[in-house]
Amino acid sequence: MNMDYNQWLKLCSFFLFLSLIVPLSLAADRITARNSLSGKQTIVSSGGFFELGFFSPSVWVANRETPISDTLNSELKILNGNLVLTNEAKSHVWSTNLTNPISANLLEAVLGDSGNLILRESSPNNSTRVLWQSFDYPGNTWLPDGKISFNKKNGTGQHLTSWKNGDDPAPGLFSLELEPKGKQYIIKWNGTQQYWTSGTWDSKQQIFNLVPEMRLNYIYNFSFVDDSNESYFTYSVYDNKFISQFVMDTSGQIKMWTWLENTQQWNLQQCQVYAYCGKFGTCNQNSLPFCNCLNGFQPQSRSDWGLSDYSGGCVRKAPL
Ligand SMILES: *[C@@H]1O[C@H](CO)[C@@H](O)[C@H](O)[C@H]1NC(C)=O
Ligand SMILES: *[C@@H]1O[C@H](CO)[C@@H](O)[C@H](O)[C@H]1NC(C)=O
Ligand SMILES: *[C@@H]1O[C@H](CO)[C@@H](O)[C@H](O)[C@H]1NC(C)=O
Ligand SMILES: *[C@@H]1O[C@H](CO)[C@@H](O)[C@H](O)[C@H]1NC(C)=O
Ligand SMILES: *[C@@H]1O[C@H](CO)[C@@H](O)[C@H](O)[C@H]1NC(C)=O
Ligand SMILES: *[C@@H]1O[C@H](CO)[C@@H](O)[C@H](O)[C@H]1NC(C)=O
Ligand SMILES: *[C@@H]1O[C@H](CO)[C@@H](O)[C@H](O)[C@H]1NC(C)=O
Repeated sequence: MNMDYNQWLKLCSFFLFLSLIVPLSLAADRITARNSLSGKQTIVSSGGFFELGFFSPSVWVANRETPISDTLNSELKILNGNLVLTNEAKSHVWSTNLTNPISANLLEAVLGDSGNLILRESSPNNSTRVLWQSFDYPGNTWLPDGKISFNKKNGTGQHLTSWKNGDDPAPGLFSLELEPKGKQYIIKWNGTQQYWTSGTWDSKQQIFNLVPEMRLNYIYNFSFVDDSNESYFTYSVYDNKFISQFVMDTSGQIKMWTWLENTQQWNLQQCQVYAYCGKFGTCNQNSLPFCNCLNGFQPQSRSDWGLSDYSGGCVRKAPL
């Protein structure tokens, strides 16, 4: 069948989205053997920060590659020891794919205030065991306390992957991951071509060597862990004052967004976009334009610079 792409999107544009919100209704925060999720229903984290349902915009998507068309007859539920998304034909479009069978009444999928959806086994003595969590499967968004790790024991790692385009959350061309030694992050194009690297972690300055703009920050508590089992980078927000997210956008740039309470809008931290001002460029969040060249340097392309495209960076005014 050769269907026009836009027509396809219109027909099947429902994804199971996790979104950052301030919800009005007081919904439950979990899916249990008795309560599934369907139609316009949502679950909301207990503090009201995150909501999960069939809608957009989003920060995490379950069925990135398999949209469904009929939300009323689709269901996210506990089934055969898993969290499963079924469509109108009752076929499984997405599943946590766990193999150990656990009695359904002991399972629950809880949406936490950090945005992590956790499938866990609860026992009568109040102890719980985490079986699966959405933070282990990042899409294009990296939330505080989430990590992009590399497992040294089996050589696998997590990837932050761009969407195909603004409307289609299927995996796109760009991905951020740790290189196989687990020492620095790289961004790859189309799964192979490496075009950006963070440099190694400088634990004294708490920055990656090639990302000096990380130094400008007073909001985020960055940390990098590198032990014999794994390495990963993670961050939290001091005082939990801001809601924030890193997003790998469809053009391969990592953008840092913070939610501003007073304007109720997402604000782009320009200077936290990696390589936003290009080589030999400096970024100042408090001046316009955001980008300037280091002393002795000038924009490589004045015309691009004039169009707010700073990615070409700066070159020496006079050769050495
Ligand atoms: C679950 O397994 C199916 C079949 O092996 C696979 O197509 C699907 O991608 C898996 N889902 C997840 C979320 O890994
Ligand atoms: C709680 O119950 C689970 C399952 O029944 C058991 O595996 C675990 O050891 C118990 N924990 C404690 C602290 O008793
Ligand atoms: C489990 O937690 C509930 C609610 O917090 C409490 O009422 C119950 O006594 C606890 N059960 C055990 C075995 O500790
Ligand atoms: C590698 O190990 C991690 C952590 O134990 C696990 O989550 C992941 O599924 C493993 N990957 C493979 C391919 O075995
Ligand atoms: C990406 O790589 C695949 C092979 O791995 C190739 O078939 C495809 O054409 C490439 N995409 C682009 C846009 O070059
Ligand atoms: C920063 O994060 C690290 C690692 O998670 C933690 O140990 C430390 O207490 C945090 N520092 C502050 C000031 O919150
Ligand atoms: C590495 O994993 C092993 C086995 O799970 C564990 O015993 C050990 O404490 C871990 N090492 C570190 C540094 O976390």
